[in-house]
Amino acid sequence: MAGTRVRTDGTDPDHWIWSRRSFLSVAGWGAVLSSLAVGTTAWGRMMYPRVLFEDPTAFKVGFPSEYAPESVSDRWIKAYRFWLVRSGDRFLAISAICTHLGCNYFFDDTEKVFRCPCHTGYFDIKTGNVLGGPPPRALDVLEVKVSDDGVLQARYEDYRLGVPEKTQV
Ligand code: FES
Repeated sequence: MAGTRVRTDGTDPDHWIWSRRSFLSVAGWGAVLSSLAVGTTAWGRMMYPRVLFEDPTAFKVGFPSEYAPESVSDRWIKAYRFWLVRSGDRFLAISAICTHLGCNYFFDDTEKVFRCPCHTGYFDIKTGNVLGGPPPRALDVLEVKVSDDGVLQARYEDYRLGVPEKTQV
């Protein structure tokens, strides 16, 4: 046929499935729809942010059965700076900061007291009360309660040091 162009592979360049115009049209719509999809997803994420609605000072410290009766545990000293004392069925989280001038005290397993090396203050392990030395008040006992799932939950709080009253910072 005269005037008919034919490619070397036998296809007719005048008979494309996609004309340039239709290709650009489809590409344009694809870009618009992609932008809408990304925008809608971003908007949806903005409407439902990943926020943890929990009190940052309250944290779980395990099941009661994880603590032996009449035990003094240093498990939470590094993370939250408190001793966890189990006395019968009662749990006490006792701040590991001496109420005198803020030194770290230790558990004297022989005498069963908390002993502060800085100025020789020492405390009752079951109440945190001062047994001797210069501390002006008992060790700060933090709230521990059993949450709905049966796990112990402690609440961290900071108190002023060197004063006789327990005053939150
Ligand atoms: S800081 Fe503990 S007794 Fe002084």
